[in-house]
Amino acid sequence: MSNVPTYENVKIERDGATTFVILNRPEKRNAMSPALHIDMCNALDWVSEDDDTRVVVVTGAGGHFCAGQDLKLFFRANENDPKAMRKAGADSQAWRWDKLSRCPKPTIAMVHGYCFGGGFTPVIACDFAIAADDATFGLSEVNWGIIPGGLVAWCVTQIMNYRDALYYSVTGERFSGKEAAAMKFVNKSVPVAELRDAVLALARNLEAKNPLTVRYTKEAIRSVRGFNQTQALDYLDAKIDGLKFNDKSKGSSEAMKQFLDEKTFKPGLGEYKR
Ligand code: ACO
Repeated sequence: MSNVPTYENVKIERDGATTFVILNRPEKRNAMSPALHIDMCNALDWVSEDDDTRVVVVTGAGGHFCAGQDLKLFFRANENDPKAMRKAGADSQAWRWDKLSRCPKPTIAMVHGYCFGGGFTPVIACDFAIAADDATFGLSEVNWGIIPGGLVAWCVTQIMNYRDALYYSVTGERFSGKEAAAMKFVNKSVPVAELRDAVLALARNLEAKNPLTVRYTKEAIRSVRGFNQTQALDYLDAKIDGLKFNDKSKGSSEAMKQFLDEKTFKPGLGEYKR
């Protein structure tokens, strides 16, 4: 198994074939500084290509997910430096949305403690999100005299219904992990003591599946949302061909052989032999 890289603001930990990418500024509740954004870009580039990683979990150190953009280092320090602001904004956007939402491995946001403002984007970019019941979410931008920019407004309307997106963005009112699960902002919430186990249970399920099929499936679901029916059908046909061509393990034929001929595999009930 290859060594994990080290960063100043991000910690990497392995648990089996699942790799935790951890925002690591606990003394600042993992507020995102420009340096943390650069570290996260590098960490996600690494984990996306790491042969020993099948599932990626994004979370925060010290019992909190993320207190949003660092008001001092991201906003105030760059107030009079438009070039630095643009660079920090580009790095921030690159990992929180582009790299995470296009990660070739399945991604899970594990949310405990606080999740504010810009911290919403990576939660939404991940394929799955599991929160602690008592996690605290807040679209607090309105309290700082700014709007949910850096794509946050767009992200929340992708996943929250219109009333909730507008209500929480304009009021800045907080909501709990339990409420987040009820509104399907996250897949589910569990007591904080069970959070890691719940995340790992999902991760183990994903680890055991054909990785290419998982990747093509998540890409298909994500992409077809913006297509009309004709485009979707055409795209999905091409995607099926792509998967068949790229899956050197011939997973689909193998699964059918195991079910139809060898009687060794039933989907969801038996072992999938890779
Ligand atoms: N930016 C910069 N520093 C922060 C941030 C932040 N977003 N959040 C917390 N910190 C710092 C605090 O200044 C403090 O630093 P210090 O020890 O040097 O004084 C340290 O982190 C701990 O914060 P406390 O407020 O002491 O911790 P507490 O647990 O009481 O509260 C909480 C945590 C609720 C997160 C509070 O710090 C807070 O409200 N932070 C702002 C959250 C927010 O609204 N973020 C959105 C920013 S806008 C955007 O993301 C686009």
